[in-house]
Amino acid sequence: MSDKIFVFDTTLRDGEQVPGCQLNTVEKIEVAKALESLGVDVIEAGFPMSSPGDFQSVVEISKAVNNPIICGLTRAIEKDIEVAAEALQYAKRKRIHTGIGTSPYHIQYKLNSTPEKIIERAVAAVKYAKKFVEDVEFYAEDAGRSDNEYLAKVVEAVIAAGATVINIPDTTGYCLPEEFGTKIRYLMENVSNVHKAILSTHCHNDLGMATANTIEGVLNGARQVEVTMNGIGERAGNTSLEEIVMIIKSHKNLPVYTNIDSRKIHKTSRLVSSLMRMPIQPNKAIVGRNAFAHSSGIHQDGVLKNRETYEIIDPKDVGIKESSIDLTARSGRAALKYRLKLLGYKFPKSELDELYQRFLNLADKKRDVNDDDLMALAGKVATEKDKPMKLELLQVVCGKSAVPMATIRLRINGEVHSSTASGNGPIDASFAAVKQLIKRKVHLEEFLIQAITRGSDDLGKVHVQIENRGKLYYGFSASTDIITGSVEAFVDAIAKIV
Ligand code: KIV
Ligand code: ZN
Repeated sequence: MSDKIFVFDTTLRDGEQVPGCQLNTVEKIEVAKALESLGVDVIEAGFPMSSPGDFQSVVEISKAVNNPIICGLTRAIEKDIEVAAEALQYAKRKRIHTGIGTSPYHIQYKLNSTPEKIIERAVAAVKYAKKFVEDVEFYAEDAGRSDNEYLAKVVEAVIAAGATVINIPDTTGYCLPEEFGTKIRYLMENVSNVHKAILSTHCHNDLGMATANTIEGVLNGARQVEVTMNGIGERAGNTSLEEIVMIIKSHKNLPVYTNIDSRKIHKTSRLVSSLMRMPIQPNKAIVGRNAFAHSSGIHQDGVLKNRETYEIIDPKDVGIKESSIDLTARSGRAALKYRLKLLGYKFPKSELDELYQRFLNLADKKRDVNDDDLMALAGKVATEKDKPMKLELLQVVCGKSAVPMATIRLRINGEVHSSTASGNGPIDASFAAVKQLIKRKVHLEEFLIQAITRGSDDLGKVHVQIENRGKLYYGFSASTDIITGSVEAFVDAIAKIV
């Protein structure tokens, strides 16, 4: 029989500590609800003592979320624990996560203490937290570099004091996978009361080993994993939720399972990325833009014959409709034929051969060949005039104390239409004005603005993904004016539905 792995998501605590990723309370509630719908077991909603904003977010998330346990972080300090208990008062299921450093670095330099005194403080913190909540998780900070024998003593003492979950963080991301697995096994075998608690992994990615270490932890007895969406977090980040979930799902021989609805991974990943303004690297496992994109001729040919030749995950399992066949100078005839077919073109073999030569010449000059290029190659040049929809005018009013308003003029199939709308910002108002003019219901799934360099005169690249009748459409634009760029990308995506 398989064991359940509890998924403890700390996107809103360890993830949110990243500079520039801070969310307001409304955004945090949106992320928390998405995590609930994804099926996480625990949401670490914040560190209530750290700021009034964090306190309020824990309060509001506690009210808004029903199923997952809501957890608040504290130091091993009574005031922290009291404040966390207060912030968690509305949670249907609550947990206090308290702890202290256990490595020589932390004991000597950070805490200026002794190993014995640390055990006393750890036990006192757990006992104090137990006065407020039944479910108390203890973290042994820098457990990765802590002596296993000493760590076992700490763990035994805090379990005896009532801790229900014991977090073994590799705080600095230093451990080798085998070393981390051995640490968990050591605790499983040498802590007499270990069966009264669940061991948890919390791995950082400083050496790129967070996922491997977490899996080793699970294979050696840990039954909770602490993770973040897209692997965001301090420095090089935390273990990625999506990687652990998909490793467990893909390796059917592992004796464990999670309750995550993997089909919601892509959507949740995009939400976190756009709210936290943290772009995902294109080759990021599972959620990167290229994770299901094939560009070399040999791979494309294989995937077109049978997806499983080069794909170990069905893209639908993570909420992506299908893998993409990207056209580059390394693509073959099969890929060109496939992409032309998607655009509605079919050519006899001799014409396809000729088209392929023209395609290779173009692909040598251009990094990737898009649909407009293909139409041009196929003899159907997509001129501006041919585009079914084009932004002709955009005028926005915004600023402190102003109600954001946008007026737009769109040319749709040759006819000019205008509209005006308000919104919670200039982009929201502009999108609302566009929506007033189109007859279709579109839902914004992803909206990402990236600066190419760092200057204020920089060109902003805007990627938009929208959904219409269950199908996804992408739009793109680049402009020095990010509002215009955003509306152009939105219109570009809508034009593809037409
Ligand atoms: O990395 C770490 O040790 C932590 C603890 C506070 C749990 O984030
Ligand atoms: Zn951490």
